[in-house]
Amino acid sequence: MKIFLDSANLNELREAVSWGAIDGVTTNPSLVAKEGREFFPLLKEICQTVNGPVSMETVSRDAAGMVEEGRTFAKLHPNIVVKCPLTKEGLKATRQLTSEKIRVNVTLCFSATQALLAAKAGAYFVSPFVGRLDDISHDGMALIGDIKTIYGNYGFSTQVLVASVRHPLHVLEAARLGADIATMPFSVLEALVKHPLTDLGLDRFLKDWEKLPPEAKTWQSNSRTTAAARPRAQKTSRTNR
Ligand code: G3P
Repeated sequence: MKIFLDSANLNELREAVSWGAIDGVTTNPSLVAKEGREFFPLLKEICQTVNGPVSMETVSRDAAGMVEEGRTFAKLHPNIVVKCPLTKEGLKATRQLTSEKIRVNVTLCFSATQALLAAKAGAYFVSPFVGRLDDISHDGMALIGDIKTIYGNYGFSTQVLVASVRHPLHVLEAARLGADIATMPFSVLEALVKHPLTDLGLDRFLKDWEKLPPEAKTWQSNSRTTAAARPRAQKTSRTNR
């Protein structure tokens, strides 16, 4: 399953990229507004920071306006995917932009029948909002299961991009259901890394290592100044296993 970051914050993007963790980015007007920066320079920098699809949402309500904005976004960078809402006008814009070979991420999807229409309109991605469904006591992940079943039944190529992800269990369930992509805030991505036993285990290993007398760790004492030496030593230990 691919992992996207649901953020327009460049510090978060750079950090996530440095972990090799993300395959793309999704934004929305709220996330862009939160950065308080000029729109196009920010969009360009996001595309230069992450090597993968970057979803940018139109802000018009009518199809003609969405198509115009979508054409402008697509000219900015080959990684741009245009986000259109799952409305009648959004479906019209999806058909038009898709016919012009511009990829569309149909967003604000809350039902399997909506997702069926998005696929029939030629959507490249469909974004079901699982967290917002959970917020109103609906089972958001059940929707993902339904969409995967329907798309599988008819061989639709639209990729299911699980959005409005709120916690690691959404990510786990999305992967179990075979979703193509999950997009998440930086806080959820961070939570995926964390495990108390990993921290405990590392502390214990390093505490035990410290018990070794310095002369037994010559490589460390000789090259304490050059951080570069450290990884090499670890690699050696791994290959011996
Ligand atoms: O990008 C759309 C979506 O991920 C929004 O999530 O947390 O605002 O429901 P949220």
